[in-house]
Order: sequence, then structure tokens, then C-alpha cells
Amino acid sequence: MNSPEDVSYSVDTDASWWRQASVYQIYPRSFSDSNGDGLGDVRGITAKVPYLKALGIDAVWVSPFYPSALADGGYDVDNYRNVDPRLGTLADFDELAAALQTAGIRIVVDIVPNHSSDRHEWFQEALAAPKGSAARQRYIFRDGLGENGELPPSDWDSKFGGPAWERITETDGTPGQWYLHIFAKEQPDFNWDNAEVRGDFLRTLRFWSDRGVDGFRVDVAHALVKDLSEPLPSKAELPQEGTGVDGLPDGSHPFWDRDEVHSIYAHWRSVLNEYTPPRAAVAETWVHADRRSRYATPDGLGQAFNFDLLQADFDAEQFHAIIVKNLAEAASSGASSTWVLSNHDVVRHPTRYGLPQSGERRCRDWLLAGGPASGVDTELGLGRARAASLLMFALPGSAYLYQGEELGLQEVGDIAAGERQDPAFFRNPGVAIGRDGCRVPLPWTAEGPSFGFGEDGAHLPQPKWFANYAVDAQDKVMGSTLEMYREALRYRRLLRTEERLTWVSAGDSVLHFVRPNGWQSVTNFGTGPVELPEGIILLSSGPLTGSKLPASTTAWII
Ligand code: NOJ
Repeated sequence: MNSPEDVSYSVDTDASWWRQASVYQIYPRSFSDSNGDGLGDVRGITAKVPYLKALGIDAVWVSPFYPSALADGGYDVDNYRNVDPRLGTLADFDELAAALQTAGIRIVVDIVPNHSSDRHEWFQEALAAPKGSAARQRYIFRDGLGENGELPPSDWDSKFGGPAWERITETDGTPGQWYLHIFAKEQPDFNWDNAEVRGDFLRTLRFWSDRGVDGFRVDVAHALVKDLSEPLPSKAELPQEGTGVDGLPDGSHPFWDRDEVHSIYAHWRSVLNEYTPPRAAVAETWVHADRRSRYATPDGLGQAFNFDLLQADFDAEQFHAIIVKNLAEAASSGASSTWVLSNHDVVRHPTRYGLPQSGERRCRDWLLAGGPASGVDTELGLGRARAASLLMFALPGSAYLYQGEELGLQEVGDIAAGERQDPAFFRNPGVAIGRDGCRVPLPWTAEGPSFGFGEDGAHLPQPKWFANYAVDAQDKVMGSTLEMYREALRYRRLLRTEERLTWVSAGDSVLHFVRPNGWQSVTNFGTGPVELPEGIILLSSGPLTGSKLPASTTAWII
């Protein structure tokens, strides 16, 4: 193995730090618990800054840490400009931001503009105020249908299952109006036609930017603007979410991906550009691929997630098509592409790749079956996951990693019903299991209470096998997934170059590309070994056999 000092490379001098950053997502409640209450917290993150620095990431994205009843893991925000007391204080946040800055790591926070929590002071005000009041205008209230308003304004379903409308009780005790919630009923949707709502989010952007935040991840960025003109269409009349070729909204839906949403982000951009350097933003957009780049323009949020790799099988053809399409799309908007293999909403990729590889429902079916160990080939899955991660890190654009993927952590499929927390589980009995399995607190040590997550328990049960994936079981262990990530991220920083790649023709099940500085990545998606290209091997995701690249393996060559 050669050290990077042996090779000539051109270091990326792009001032736009986010364009090819490695961004590490922290789900704070499950990262590190500093006070032994079973919930990860802000000080827990600060304590791990040396770990993050050694990992070699450029930025962290911290999922919501705001005051919240946790009806949806923190995406139900009570107050956008504070820290949940169980997670710390604003002073703790400032300490974290300072520690990260000293370590040369940027910080991105999550902003949740589509809905607040039902405990937000504005929603409480709306409940206490009469129908038609200014307080109710900040959310989406409607009279019910039926003789006494007893039927919801429409038959729409919420994303987590069950109706998308909830009826309130008026202050005089009578059954009252209904409010819209696309997600859980504890997450009332804001009315983005309301000037106060628009103004308040600008205030929130400034609040965190003034505290040194470098960027924002914008939750369900495509949902804010809604066409709710009466009569509301019935569920059967709604444009199918599958209108787009990839089964995603294409702009014709009354609340997903409406064109008018971009005027909001143009406004946000002018605020983000008040700062030096301008604050970055990345949109969470589950939209039709052709429309994604609209969120990523320089006069909009600047960058948008593409979740295509995260939805793909471990398959050369699928990976190739996705990479080609997304690089072209990014170029058309002036953004850089984003790449994601895991996050807090999906089954971890080592497990995904260990399930039978075809069938859209494979993860759901496995989870519904109780996540049986017999249903997943963890070794195969981990090998493929390491290969996919190494491929991703060689791509031009930003790589978004999810906490624990650097450990090769698998999904916890068999959490008992009584221990589950995700609203998707409770609202979809027998249909969805939800996302708790990728949110189980991280194992830091193979021994000790809660595997070093905290001094006591963990808010979701950690299985015994977590010990095998613990940080201290992998630290300085040659060939461990953690060491592979560290090395890959170090090379990625050193080798970052112009945002282009050239494909090198290889077999059907092999993807081979080269970056402008000669940095090559070759992945064998097939089942048998293939010939390695010539050159110096920098790193590989698994052991190489002589001049061969084994199945499910990526090698970097220069
Ligand atoms: C997307 C987030 O990633 C997810 O965790 C959350 O449940 C929904 N948005 C609603 O905020």
C-alpha cells in the first residue's frame, strides 16, 4: 500500500466548501449520551469531535435537536430557535460549534419548515383562538364536511398512514375545525401563504447563521406551498404520486413540488447570501428527477439531495445510469451532485445489500417478517456496502454519510413493538415497521453499559451483536470498516479534483471511472473476479487476490 505522499495529486481549491464535501449526519438522540439519561445529547457530540476529526469528514449535519415531544424523532419542532433541554442548552450548542470549528469541521443544521409540532406556541395560540382568526391563518384550518362538520375536509391520507386531517375541540368544548397534517397529527402543516410564517423562518435562518452555522438541510423542501382551492379534490382525483416516470411527484400535485415553492427559496437565498461565506443549503426533495435541479440553483437552495443510489440495488447498470443522470442534472443547475447510501429514514445499506436484490418491497417485507437474521446475508451485504461507499467517495459531488455507516453497522430488524418509537409504525399497523432500526444508539465500545453510548441505557434496545461493530473493536484494526472509511476520506480530501469523471469501458458488471487527476475507481458488481486495471493501488474495499478484483469489491488506483 502506498501512502498518499507517494502520488501526485491536485488538491481541490474550490472555495465552495460544500460542493465536494463529505458530510456526516448525526442523529443526536442516538449518537452519544453525556449524562446517562439514555438520550444522546449536544455535549455527547462535542465529546466526539476528536473522533469526527480523525474520521476525516468536512462537515456534520445535525438532525433536529430542538425542543420536541419526539412524536417524529424531533421532526416535530416546538421551538426553532432553542435546544431541547434533554439534549442541552444554547450554550452547549455554541460550545459544539466552536469545537467543530477548531477541528476544521463545518456544521449544518436541519430546518423543518413544512410543519411545526402541535406544542409550538403558534399552534397552541391557534387552538385557543377563534375560527378565522389571524392565529389560525398560520396553519391550515378548514371546516369539516357533513351536516355538522363531522367529516374531514377531504379523504387524504397522511404520509405516516391514517387521515391527513385532525379535528380540534374549540375552547367552548364543542367539536371544531380540522387542520391539515401531511405527516403525524402532532405535525400541523404551516400555511406558507402567511407572511408571518415566511418572516419567522427568515428569522430562524439568521438566528443559526449568526451562531456560526455553515448550512441548512431543508426538510421536505418540496411540500411547503399548497394549492388548497375549494373544492378539495378527493384522494382518487389527486394526481398519482407516480405520475413521474420514477414514481415521484412532477408538479401537478396540490401539495408536492409546486412551482411556487421556489419563490420561498429565492428569498431564503438572499438571506443566506448576507453571510460570508454564504450559508449553504441542501433540499430534501423526493421529487421527479427532472425537477430536482430546480431546488439546486444558485438563486435557490443551491443543492438538492438525490436519493437514487439509496433506492438502487447493488447493480452496475443501475449505478451507472444514476451517476450519469445526476452529474448531468447537477451541471444543468450549477450545483454539485449529492450522493447518499444511508440516512435516518431508510434501512442501513449493509443490510439492504444483504437482502435478495430485487423487489421494491424487499426492505419492508423483511422488516414485517420481524427482521429475521436468516433473511439477510450480513457478510455479503457488508462487502457490497463497503464497495458502494468507496465508489461513492470517488464521485464528484458531496457524499452524505449517516452515523454508524463508518462501522458497517447493520439495521436492527427485530425491535419489539413495545420498544418502537416511529409514528410510521404506530399509524400503519401491519403495513410498515418504521425507521427505528437505523436509529439505534451507536456502539462505541464492545463492553460496558449501552456499548459506550452512555453511562446507562439507550433509548432504543441495542442487540448483543452491536459489540462486533463497536468503534473500539475496529479502531486501528487493519481492514476494519472504520479504518477503510478513515483512509477513504483522507484520500478523498487529498485527491479532490475538478468535478468531472470519464468512464473507462469495462465488463458489464464493472464500473470503472477516472477523475481528471488520474484518480481511478473500479467496482466489481459481478459474482466472479475480474482483472484489475494497471496502476498503483491506493485502497480497496476488501482483500485483492493478486491482479484480480474480487466480486463486490472496489479499488482505487492512480
Ligand atoms: C423527512 C425526515 O427525514 C423524516 O425523518 C421526517 O419524518 C419527515 N421529513 C417529516 O418531517
